[in-house]
Amino acid sequence: MTATRIDGKAFAAALRERVGGYAASFEEAAGRKAGLAVVLVGDDPASQVYVGSKGKATVAANMASFEHRLPDETTSQELLALVEQLNQDESVDGILVQLPLPSHLDEQSIISAISPDKDVDGFHVINAGRLSVGQSGFVPCTPLGCMMLLTDRLGDLSGLEAVVIGRSNIVGKPMAQLLLDANATVTIAHSRTKDLPGVVKRADIVVAAVGRAEMVKAEWLKEGATVIDVGINRLPPEPGKEKGRLVGDVAFNEASEVAAAITPVPGGVGPMTIAVLLRNTLVAAHRNAGLTAPEDL
Ligand code: GUN
Repeated sequence: MTATRIDGKAFAAALRERVGGYAASFEEAAGRKAGLAVVLVGDDPASQVYVGSKGKATVAANMASFEHRLPDETTSQELLALVEQLNQDESVDGILVQLPLPSHLDEQSIISAISPDKDVDGFHVINAGRLSVGQSGFVPCTPLGCMMLLTDRLGDLSGLEAVVIGRSNIVGKPMAQLLLDANATVTIAHSRTKDLPGVVKRADIVVAAVGRAEMVKAEWLKEGATVIDVGINRLPPEPGKEKGRLVGDVAFNEASEVAAAITPVPGGVGPMTIAVLLRNTLVAAHRNAGLTAPEDL
């Protein structure tokens, strides 16, 4: 059997298109564009690329992008002052502080300073708490994107066995909450889990978010499982090549022989993150303007 490839790239493009259309309607109704502010501290090359793509995607979706690039030596006070200014700014609906921050800045205290109603990353403890008790708030973009791919593929997840590998605050924990809300039976596995292959074997749904190249093998999987691969790992370069290949946390080729459906890397979960960020920003804009967000946003 060869698994269906879950085309996150196409799904994300459709979502961005839909957000762009609704963003134009929002502008007409509210008399202003929805706005996303992205803050980057320091000159980490990967972060520079992400922030650049977020800005372009925001503008392409008919929203306003406000970029703040601050030097590496920015103090906590200076960063907090900027966050406070963005909290007060009525043209800013969403605030994203790009992580990781330079090591002299405390990520938790910076994130806590963002207004929970502008926290479109869903990283604030208030939003983590809202998700945990089932109140509406902002859900981290990557797990929400995974959930969209899963429900598109499987419909009702009720009663299905889901195993999430990884327990980060950004992916593993919110992913498990979302699956639980959808009535799946959820296990969170991690580096101390005993018999990880045996645990994964039970799963109708596997979400791998550990950051270890091709760790999940075909023989770990139940026949017909749906596999969502959140990992993005670069292999060492082959001789004569400058860069190694990008691979996920799942051994894609062999897993495709056992799974019913699987996300590729690249082109699976990755493109969903920015699309969901735009979606969250437009939801924030509707709430801030006292308008009702469209149902299918
Ligand atoms: N760094 C890598 N991914 C993300 C993300 O989704 N949000 C933020 N704020 N920083 C990141």
